[in-house]
Amino acid sequence: GFSWKLEDHPKLPKGKTIALVVLDGWGEANPDKYNCIHVAETPTMDSLKTGAPDKWRLVRAHGKAVGLPTEDDMGNSEVGHNALGAGRIYAQGAKLVDSALASGKIYEGEGFKYIKECFDNGTLHLIGLLSDGGVHSRLDQLQLLLKGASENGAKRIRLHILTDGRDVLDGSSVGFVETIENDLSNLRAKGVDAQIASGGGRMYVTMDRYENDWSVVKRGWDAQVLGEAPYKFRNAVEAVKKLREDPKTSDQYLPPFVIVDESGNAVGPIVDGDAVVTINFRADRMVMVAKALEYEDFDKFDRVRVPKIHYAGMLQYDGELKLPSKYLVSPPEIDRTSGEYLVHNGVRTFACSETVKFGHVTFFWNGNRSGYFDASMEEYVEIPSDSGITFNVQPKMKALEIAEKARDAILSRKFDQVRVNLPNGDMVGHTGDIDATVVACKAADEAVKIILDAIEQVGGIYVVTADHGNAEDMVKRSKSGQPMLDKKGNIQVLTSHTLQPVPIAIGGPGLAPGVRYRKDVPDGGLANVAATVMNLHGFVAPSDYEPTLIEVVDN
Ligand code: 3PG
Ligand code: CO
Repeated sequence: GFSWKLEDHPKLPKGKTIALVVLDGWGEANPDKYNCIHVAETPTMDSLKTGAPDKWRLVRAHGKAVGLPTEDDMGNSEVGHNALGAGRIYAQGAKLVDSALASGKIYEGEGFKYIKECFDNGTLHLIGLLSDGGVHSRLDQLQLLLKGASENGAKRIRLHILTDGRDVLDGSSVGFVETIENDLSNLRAKGVDAQIASGGGRMYVTMDRYENDWSVVKRGWDAQVLGEAPYKFRNAVEAVKKLREDPKTSDQYLPPFVIVDESGNAVGPIVDGDAVVTINFRADRMVMVAKALEYEDFDKFDRVRVPKIHYAGMLQYDGELKLPSKYLVSPPEIDRTSGEYLVHNGVRTFACSETVKFGHVTFFWNGNRSGYFDASMEEYVEIPSDSGITFNVQPKMKALEIAEKARDAILSRKFDQVRVNLPNGDMVGHTGDIDATVVACKAADEAVKIILDAIEQVGGIYVVTADHGNAEDMVKRSKSGQPMLDKKGNIQVLTSHTLQPVPIAIGGPGLAPGVRYRKDVPDGGLANVAATVMNLHGFVAPSDYEPTLIEVVDN
């Protein structure tokens, strides 16, 4: 039968303190002036690189290596941390939704049937991120769902759009709204009453995560459910164009708006008897809005009016909370994660990051489950992020505080694994502010140094890696790799992640002398890290895990 017990590693000892450091958004790319990691002073990460090829190498962090549909899909934190924690490659949300739409199975499932019950008398509302970024949602999936829903009887459809500019270029929102408006007008020609009802920028409206700032979700609620927003427009293309004229705003931060009819009334508030689908497949930035839409008891903000609706997520976003209870596509069943195995095998774990990435090293790491496996073996510490700012203003973020918490956890000798996420390269990279991203990379490097020093003191082992690229390339490039310019001749700043591989470095005084990277897993990716770390804890990984990256040679 099944057992949680892991076999002892034949050559590697137990009981070493391991620091597992994930630099968020830290890929490897050619050195040039748009590579902020190269431009920044990063002596610690540079010194790790000199350990190549035995102690430093690159691993794949995008596309199929992390369960995404194609090799053109950039990596992201959800799939990256899922792979790091689970040690196997799962077909991820993007791909599962693609298949369910292609086969039509999405319309036969329980979730859609539940939604469909409202089609006769109610409106179908679709809330989600409008872009082709493929990180949280995808435009083509929304287009297919619109078509499929109307073919399945939806007569009145309202779209509540969130503009992107974070997984795609800033300014691209206008084109996406035009595209979807065109689809909606085709639906109207077929007799479906379909239109955009509200909108706002993803970082300011609805898509907060890890309870960093509930006012973000409230702004969405007000516009989507109550039909109230500071800006009113007759159509969404005009709304986005007009709001973008303010030089202080951007697609990510557009203020909330509602679309109104000729008498000034909102065209699509959510009311009793309506159906609502949140169309994002990715979990982290949908959990909060899902709670607001689903929970009867809710005290995070005053909802004013709580309509009786049928609500479903594109996926179920939290496996532990079973939230939402109805969903259109079943999420990947990420089970038997390394975290769960390790607590069953006596490995005491400490995990820490600041709010905006806290769930990455806990929730995502553990296969999209909130909470502890065994509270007596684990401690998760969240350092409050600054909220209400864009992180180019504070590019050092809480890197120092995270490193100090990790250092204290290591020196306390109470833990066998001390796991952190350092957010700087990613969170500042997403702002598109190149100078600030350089500062961010330096701060992350300094944090790594503090953690490695602590590992040195306790005779431990370090594993330093990243979840995907971001800060190493801040410009959109042509196929031949040349920076691309916009119509005014300025470079097109890349706020998104990249397709680059990420480094992984191992070392520390506790690393057994014969440990080195194997040569026979050249295509290794993030999913190979879990088995590697299990080995370093003195265990052999389960046989269905992706192979370890290391071997032990006799000296
Ligand atoms: C976000 O949610 O901030 C971005 O879309 C993706 O960033 P992450 O995958 O690094 O969290
Ligand atoms: Co990111």
